[in-house]
Amino acid sequence: MPTQNLANKRIIVGISGGIAAYKAAELVRRLKQHEADVRVVMTAAAQQFITPLTLQALSGNPVHTALLNTEAEAAMGHIELARWADAMLIAPASANCIARVAQGQGDDLLTTLVLALKAPLALAPAMNQAMWLDEATHDNVQLLVRRGIALFGPAEGSQACGDTGPGRMLEADELAERLAGLFNTGSMAGLRVTITAGPTREAIDPVRFISNHSSGKMGYALAEAAVEAGALTTLISGPVALPPPPKVSMVQVRSALEMHDASIAAAARCDVFIATAAVADYRPKTVANQKIKKSGEAMVLELERNPDIITAVAKLKPAPYCVGFAAETEKVVEHARSKLQQKGLNLIFANDVANAGIGFNSEENQVTLISAEETLTLEQAPKQKLARVLINEIAKRLCH
Ligand code: PMT
Repeated sequence: MPTQNLANKRIIVGISGGIAAYKAAELVRRLKQHEADVRVVMTAAAQQFITPLTLQALSGNPVHTALLNTEAEAAMGHIELARWADAMLIAPASANCIARVAQGQGDDLLTTLVLALKAPLALAPAMNQAMWLDEATHDNVQLLVRRGIALFGPAEGSQACGDTGPGRMLEADELAERLAGLFNTGSMAGLRVTITAGPTREAIDPVRFISNHSSGKMGYALAEAAVEAGALTTLISGPVALPPPPKVSMVQVRSALEMHDASIAAAARCDVFIATAAVADYRPKTVANQKIKKSGEAMVLELERNPDIITAVAKLKPAPYCVGFAAETEKVVEHARSKLQQKGLNLIFANDVANAGIGFNSEENQVTLISAEETLTLEQAPKQKLARVLINEIAKRLCH
């Protein structure tokens, strides 16, 4: 997302108490480099980790720390500050801060500002991995997402407390990029979308593999449409003959296992996961090191199950909004509906691949949108055109 979107934007950076507060200094520096006008609000706990003076020097503005401060109120009180902002980003957002925002508390300047704010709000969580995975935090985060508050991260990795897992605050560059995305007006502005596309190849030996006819056209068209709608888009693609779409982060994979690992890594920090890939359900149990020589009239290959990628993504906590595709040749809607339930998805697009004009390697496609509440048959169209329709249909359902 172009960070020039930040030029002249009025940004409140809220800092709550946590070791990642030191990274807020770099964030404020980045936002200033992108020519944003930055005001910093700190909680009492944040000031235990980093001084207001540092943030004042970096933002070029006085730092706001107290709700009831006659001097600050005379300069810019909390209501004026809320009205002044084009966007607010709380980074780091501690577990306690997330809980207070979720409950609508107004017990300090930061939370009061959130209550008074009309501009978009984003939170960059940072906490110990066990706290992030705790059910109470999970419920609070879900509540915020349902209210339309953007969540930037957290990332996975080693933590200040010595643990490893999800809960690291995103780096300043990524936060700035995602904040810039909030000023894009497309239907997926600022959202992070991951799409899988194409086939997977399951090696038998160094020269042979099991695969299918997916060309990647549907997934690549969706990636282009997601970019057009303002999403920061990652495309995880099996081997196809298509050029990478512009402005997309590409991850090239071959096998289902590689696609699984890339998907889990990307999905842990995305808002929407769309699986168009035709993933091989089975792979050869052993892969020969050398080309297998012809011998006898028949050959038996023993296969083992591949992991179901979208099912694993839908089980993440918190999980992104999960959209599957169901390639069916009979009882298309019925089978797609049972996949929606079995895989724990929010939406599935049923694709009648028995019809050669739509589905695998065709220029056009036609799908039926299925969720727990609705069944909606969409018109046949070229994949690029259909992709825009599908992205808008997904975007419409994200906040409900
Ligand atoms: O690539 P194209 O030539 O443009 O063709 C597009 C398409 C026909 C491949 C596409 O529109 C489509 O229907 N994709 C889904 C293909 C498929 O494998 O469907 P499925 O019913 O087997 O799987 C259901 C869902 O689970 C899919 O979202 C699939 O990506 C996902 N899955 C399946 C198996 C697995 N191991 N992991 C998965 O994530």
